[in-house]
Formats: sequence, structure tokens, C-alpha cells
Amino acid sequence: MRSLIIRNGRVLDPSNGIDEITTVYIEDGVIKQVGGQCAVAGAEDIDATGLLVCPGFIDIHTHLREPGREDKETIHTGTRAAAAGGFTSVCAIPNTEPVIDSQTGLKFVLARAESDAIVNVFPYGAVTKGQAGEEIVEFGDLVYYGARGFTDDGHPVMNAEIMRRALEYSAMFNVPVLDHCEDANLASGGVMHEGDVSNRLGLKGIPALAESIQVSRDADLAALTGGHIHIMHVSKKESLEAIRRAKASGVRLTAEVTPHHLTLTDEALADYSTYAKVNPPLGTAEDRAALLAALLDGTIDCIATDHAPHTDIEKDQPITDAPFGSIGLETAFPVLYTKLVLTGRMSLEFLVHKMTAAPAAIVHLDPRGSLSHGAPADMTLIDLNKEFEVTPDFFLSKSRNSCFLGERLRGSVETTICGGRVVYHQRKVLRPQA
Ligand code: DOR
Repeated sequence: MRSLIIRNGRVLDPSNGIDEITTVYIEDGVIKQVGGQCAVAGAEDIDATGLLVCPGFIDIHTHLREPGREDKETIHTGTRAAAAGGFTSVCAIPNTEPVIDSQTGLKFVLARAESDAIVNVFPYGAVTKGQAGEEIVEFGDLVYYGARGFTDDGHPVMNAEIMRRALEYSAMFNVPVLDHCEDANLASGGVMHEGDVSNRLGLKGIPALAESIQVSRDADLAALTGGHIHIMHVSKKESLEAIRRAKASGVRLTAEVTPHHLTLTDEALADYSTYAKVNPPLGTAEDRAALLAALLDGTIDCIATDHAPHTDIEKDQPITDAPFGSIGLETAFPVLYTKLVLTGRMSLEFLVHKMTAAPAAIVHLDPRGSLSHGAPADMTLIDLNKEFEVTPDFFLSKSRNSCFLGERLRGSVETTICGGRVVYHQRKVLRPQA
């Protein structure tokens, strides 16, 4: 029996309406009680005076790269980066080498997570074999072996007939299909958002329509089938109308937005910086404002990082050749806290909700994401006043390709607790082996 008492912190649990300085009691890896007095035998004590104490963050969009691209990230390093960012659960995207499209691949990820991970890893399966877009995977088999959802992320599912069948399986097995919405033909050869900045830089653009056309199609297919479509990394204002329409008519559609799309614009590529080359590409200031408004009004359901590690060798190429992607686990909370909460655009409670209970609900991980009685004791302790600079040596991720390098941020994750155990404390990993 492992017991832990966290005293004197500001306990913020949006899904239970708790925001007060109080005590959290943990027994045998689960939340026993928040507040009041409670007898917990032989408990370890943590003094959280001056710290925010909230449910551990949940990222439903993390590229861990293992198997196959261990030069970029592994389950070992990626989950350490997650813990350093206050994340206690990550959903692993299957665009690995090989792609996770069979029970063998899924079993590998789960076994590696068991031995190497310091936070919870929930794998997705691919929608199509090899993510080639041609042949649908064995949905039932993969659900049986632990797939939390299905995605060809990195690539869109271009074939509408395949997406229709995938959504029929989604309805049958009650798991989401998560789509990287991009019309591959419209986007072909594009490097950044198509607009004034791409014209100025002389770089081929990707039109907003490449995203919104697929969002509309997916919404229609979800309406037809009753399946659950989740729109990944929404980035353009044109996509929001289709999402609003679908939600208003009762379609099972959810959506996420990343910290980089909420806080940066295509001007970040003005010096041809490959670190700001992400897919979908950063939009205009108008897109950014529309995404924030959509998150605030519930059109977009949650925040997800799209943590996408790449090596220096790959990112140090000309912008036309460098891969798309930015790491994001370790900067997600401080970026959003500094740029959106401290500037008065959203409340701290709202931000924590969108990084905890809101994503948990989409992939059926609840009661994770809350401090409810009996929930797994996954928590993060944050010093909201501590300021730091994002330097290359700040990261526990194996990669350094952050579009926030050089920023000064506030909101430092001090301690991360997973399953009632302290796994990370003040830049140190405390449980090298799970
Ligand atoms: O920027 C991105 N990088 N977007 C994606 O959809 C895929 C990801 C990757 O795998 O690197």
C-alpha cells in the first residue's frame, strides 16, 4: 500500500469545482479524499505550499516515435518529457516505423511502455494498413488489444469510403477515429500556410481549404454513420464553421487545438525557421484569434500538443526539405499560462480543464483528468510564479525542435505524480524504471 499526503497546495480540480488551499490524500495509487481530515497509514508527506496542485495533464496527440525512429524519441525519453511537462497520460500516435496497424505492434508499444515509461501510455492503432490509405485495419482485434482510437495522423484518410467504414466501426466499438484533416492534392508540395507571408517568402503555400474541405467531409460521414470523428490540430478559421454546424446538429464530433496554433502565426516562418514548420501550418493572426474564440465557446473541445520530435540533422535542412513538426510536451502548459492566462484571455481553471478532463472524455480515459474519489492519483504540482527560459538544454525530450526556443515563460512544473508515485521532481526523474 503506497500512501501520500499533499498539503497546503492550491488544489484546482475543474471537473469537481474545487479551487482551494487544502490537502489531497492518496492511498494505493488512487485519490482517497480531497480536503478535510483523513487517516492514511504510513504516508509520505509533500509540502505543496505556494504550488498549484491539479490533475495530471492528458495529451491525446503525442508522437513517441518508437518503434523505428528512436533517433528522434523513444517511449523512455518521450514519457520523461511528458512528466517534465506535467503530463501523466499520453496517447501514442501510430505513425512509427513500422506503423502500428496490428496486434503485434500494439503489444510491442504496450510492453515497452510497461518497462520504460514513467507516465501512462495509451496507444492508437492506424486506420489503414501501413497508413497507406488503402486497406482498413482489423478494428475489433486492435480494440481488444488496447487501441484507444484510430488515426492515420501524419497523413489524411483521403478515401471517403474507407473513412465511412472506419466510422461505422467507431460506432460499433465506441472508439474515436482521429483525423489529420488535409486534402493531400490541395496541400501537395506546400511548406506553409498559403497567404501574404508565403507569397513574400516565395514558398509554396497550403490553402486553408485543404483542411476545411476534409473537416466538412468527415462531419458528413460521422453524421451518416453515427461514428465519433475527432478533428486533430484544427488550425484554420474556415474549419470552424463546419465543426459548429456538425455539433449543432448532434453529430459525434470533437476537436483539438495545439499550443502553437493558439499562440503563433505564419510570421514565425519569416526567417525561414524550420522549427516553425508544422503541419497543419501556422495560420494568420485572424486564424489564431478564431481558434481561441472557438476553444472558449466550446467549438473546440480540448488542447493537444502534437509533440513531434525530429533530429537536428533533419531540421537543419532548407525549409523545403525539413520535416513538419515541433516538440510540445514540455512547453504546453507554460506557453498557454504565460500567453493566454497571464494576459487575461482565459482563466487558469479553464486551461487546466482543457488539458485534463476535456481530453480524457474524448478517448474515454475518465475518471483520469480529475481528482475524484477512486480516480488514479495522477497529478502535477506547478510553481506559477517561477520564470524560466526555453533553452536547448531545458528539454528531457531526445529532440530539441521546439518552436518556442528562446521564449521566457512562467509556470514551472515542479513535481509530477503518476499512480500515486512521484515520477518527476525539480528536473529529476525519480523512477527510472516503471
Ligand atoms: O507537424 C506535424 N508533424 N504534423 C503531423 O501531422 C505529423 C507530425 C510528425 O509526425 O512529425
